[in-house]
Amino acid sequence: MRQQILESATFLRKQFLRQPEIGLVLGSGLGPLAEELQDAVYIPYGMIPHFKQSTAPDHAGQLVCGQLAGKTVLCMQGRLHGYEGHTPAEIAYPVYVLKELGVRALLLTNASGGINTDFAVGDLMLIEDHINMTGQSPLTGINDDALGTRFPDMTFAYCPELRKTALQVAEQSGVKLQRGVYCGVNGPQFETPAEIRAFRTLGADAVGMSTVFEVIAAAHCGLPLAAVAMITNMAAGVLMKPLSGAEVNEIAEQKGKAFRQFMTAWISSIAF
Ligand code: HPA
Repeated sequence: MRQQILESATFLRKQFLRQPEIGLVLGSGLGPLAEELQDAVYIPYGMIPHFKQSTAPDHAGQLVCGQLAGKTVLCMQGRLHGYEGHTPAEIAYPVYVLKELGVRALLLTNASGGINTDFAVGDLMLIEDHINMTGQSPLTGINDDALGTRFPDMTFAYCPELRKTALQVAEQSGVKLQRGVYCGVNGPQFETPAEIRAFRTLGADAVGMSTVFEVIAAAHCGLPLAAVAMITNMAAGVLMKPLSGAEVNEIAEQKGKAFRQFMTAWISSIAF
């Protein structure tokens, strides 16, 4: 895999105007933040050696590299999901490429269902930890020691420093930033109410169909990472009304402005 990563990175380096400092993965409906990047270069995944195409609705499927809040940000506008048929290793692959490109922090975003009944639709939640309910790992198989250790530690997978900065920025700018544990599932079906009750008992505050494989890969290769979820709906059974993918994208769009303002302030405050 190392050879492929080097080939992807070599191709990408030639496209960028500047050395990317921060990696940013934009989740369902959150893609418009990429449009705020200045002096941007757009590279469709299909053009990048060894990159898979994203097929999820509302995921543009391109890398955007440009300036945001005084930093050079390399943005994945659209990510890969297990429910599209991608393997966990394929989903994690871009994380290793970002690390190879010299990105010093990775910020993940996603749309999630709220399990914690103190949450409201439209809230942002800083992910403090996760429960991987997919039963899978991107690290299954022979370990590539050049990328990371066989048994990576997950204790500080969600970087305490980046989290602290997020909380400070939220406080200073008056943004309500919830905190909680993210439960990662495969999807594509939404959960049953019984599953949501079980996840709540296990300690989960929000649920979604992404993120955990990327976090495992970042922990594996030693890339500092933090993640923010937008609560686009209350999870199944919380409000006794049916869920829909359209609702997820609608809310992400409606609340997009507050999300973009928070992310921009956070990126501006990150010190290396
Ligand atoms: N469940 C799983 N994934 C999701 C949800 C949900 O309720 N909302 C947004 N992504």
